[in-house]
Amino acid sequence: MSARDLNSYTSVSDLIDRTSPDEPVFCYWPEAVRARASDFVSNFPGRTLYAVKCNPDPNMLRWLHEGGVRHFDTASRAEIALVRDLFPDAHCYFNHPVKSREALRFAYDLHGVRDFVVDHGGEFDKILEVLGSEVLIEVRLAVSNRGATYDFSTKFGAGHDVAAGLLKRTGQVGANAALSFHVGSHSLRPEAFVDAIAEAKAVFEAANVTVRYLNVGGGFPVDYDGQVPEIGQYFDAIRRGHAQLGKWSDLPLYCEPGRYLAAHGMAILVQVHLRRENALFINDGVFGSLSEVNVMKFEPPLIAYGRARVLRGEPVPFKIFGPTCDPQDELPVTFTLPDDIDEGDWILIERMGAYSNALTSDFNGFGGRTSVVIEGVPGMDLEAG
Ligand SMILES: Cc1ncc(COP(=O)(O)O)c(C=O)c1O
Repeated sequence: MSARDLNSYTSVSDLIDRTSPDEPVFCYWPEAVRARASDFVSNFPGRTLYAVKCNPDPNMLRWLHEGGVRHFDTASRAEIALVRDLFPDAHCYFNHPVKSREALRFAYDLHGVRDFVVDHGGEFDKILEVLGSEVLIEVRLAVSNRGATYDFSTKFGAGHDVAAGLLKRTGQVGANAALSFHVGSHSLRPEAFVDAIAEAKAVFEAANVTVRYLNVGGGFPVDYDGQVPEIGQYFDAIRRGHAQLGKWSDLPLYCEPGRYLAAHGMAILVQVHLRRENALFINDGVFGSLSEVNVMKFEPPLIAYGRARVLRGEPVPFKIFGPTCDPQDELPVTFTLPDDIDEGDWILIERMGAYSNALTSDFNGFGGRTSVVIEGVPGMDLEAG
């Protein structure tokens, strides 16, 4: 599929006017994706990899590429094949700490992947056995995830001693070495990066081997429902941490954001199928593209539409139920919407380009979804009235 396959509309009102969609529609703003990518890539003090899992839509990948993203954090054969099919020159990194032997061979032989993440001696041995030492071993260090909405340090990441031991072994077998960490997704604390880089420094000191780069992961937050620090504060914190690395302060930096790059460029248009007092039954839910809302418990920015107009009634909280017959299909937060919203109206759920379409299921037969392009900029209809 290419971007050219998507139908294009001048605005969300135009989409509603022309199609009256009764299934969820992923509304993409390509220019918003390109602009955010280009801004990030030019301001991050190092190399930017996009974490493909966040939104693997080929159109999204293409727009990010047009915005300057050339490197990709991939976690599976399918992600590697997808990226390399779209961009044969792209550089993929196999950043899942656990990989099958077949997947290792696939990545190395067919796609030239040379960078492999490990956080355990078993994975280290496996890579050496299958691929030999002409690889770069990127040791994933577990760091504090305080201040993040998702804690990544429980499932993955080696403690300091194990990480230092893995780096040492990498040097001993003649492979290249690097270190990475993830401060947790949607991290609200820029200082988390300063702290994590200081933890990385302690590992470098203990291992005392040549390292090729430090990958500071993802975790850059999105302003869904309130104040989040500006992205510049994160870059400043990373620069500060980097400067404090002492003899490693020239080490190249990599990062691998997902959420920050993908969220703003897509919104989900859903329809209300029943209003039951102050509860709305909509056509998407926790088994569809709203599973992140369920886990993170946030209220994204919302715009309510009647036919070809933005609804502007008094804002009131509504309970939100998804379309399936399952009682768990209820959002854990209320949505604040105009009091005149009713059956047949639509809700545009904004900043949903991350961890939404990537996580959908067809549970209970509710799998119909389309993607479209909206020209202009997100939020345009609000200003138009
Ligand atoms: C290894 C790795 N890197 C990067 C990311 C992207 O993180 P974020 O979306 O918080 O930027 C993820 C997300 O789960 C990840 O698992």
